[in-house]
Amino acid sequence: MQFSGIPKSLGATVNHFRLRIDQSWEPDWEEFERAVNPKTRLVYVSNPNNPSGSVLSLEAMQRMVRRCEQVGAYLLTDEVYLGAEIACPRTPTFWGMSDRVIVTSGLSKAYGIPGVRIGWIVGPAAVVAECWSQHDYITIGPNKISDAVARVAVRPENREKLYARTRSILQHNLPLMRQWAAGFAGFLTFREPQAGALCLMRYQSPTPSFELCERIRVNPSVLIVPGAHLGLEGYIRVWLGGKPEFLSEGLRRIGVELNAGIRRLNG
Ligand SMILES: Cc1ncc(COP(=O)(O)O)c(C=O)c1O
Repeated sequence: MQFSGIPKSLGATVNHFRLRIDQSWEPDWEEFERAVNPKTRLVYVSNPNNPSGSVLSLEAMQRMVRRCEQVGAYLLTDEVYLGAEIACPRTPTFWGMSDRVIVTSGLSKAYGIPGVRIGWIVGPAAVVAECWSQHDYITIGPNKISDAVARVAVRPENREKLYARTRSILQHNLPLMRQWAAGFAGFLTFREPQAGALCLMRYQSPTPSFELCERIRVNPSVLIVPGAHLGLEGYIRVWLGGKPEFLSEGLRRIGVELNAGIRRLNG
């Protein structure tokens, strides 16, 4: 939400394009080309994606890059989930595909170290210099302990160990999620994520997603994200990470509330 909210607060006009579930989570290219037009300065895309857990094909990546070059826009690619692939090969980076590409990432997701609050940007030197100056102006500097942890984490040998840890958690938890969703006899359906720790599920009820998630937050005290906050009414987003016993207990609690909702709906 911040990626459209912040530019809007600075007076920018924000156009949206959507990854389409009915098109294997690729954009509708006509919609994409309408959104990315000669007035566009910056295009943002998250790959692997939050909330769908999808990964763009190489052709889709190239098409986005070509369009940005054609209209003279920068392409800001958020690759914070790169390395958290569950069953597919490592996601290719946009970095190096064009001098219009800017990549951001950080330790919060695939590295599994959100607490240190360290991330980075890779881009054309002039863009990075400008961002660096803004960053220094706003934050002065990073926490020195976080900085030391980050320096160890990003060493190539440690990075691969951390990615492997994340993948093994996700590979272990995804079958738990699959089994749990199947227990609702068609009430919940989901396209399994290719990468990342998020499961987007469709539910069969006219109850608005915010109302449903609010009930789940207040009654069994579990926080999940309403699809309405992601432009996807009729969906919920459930987290897949964490210790299996913690996940199972969270899912059990959500299940109690969903079953009560289904009973209310049927009766
Ligand atoms: C796509 C994406 N980028 C960035 C972030 C934020 O990462 P950080 O915790 O490093 O600020 C999130 C967090 O949910 C995310 O989903």
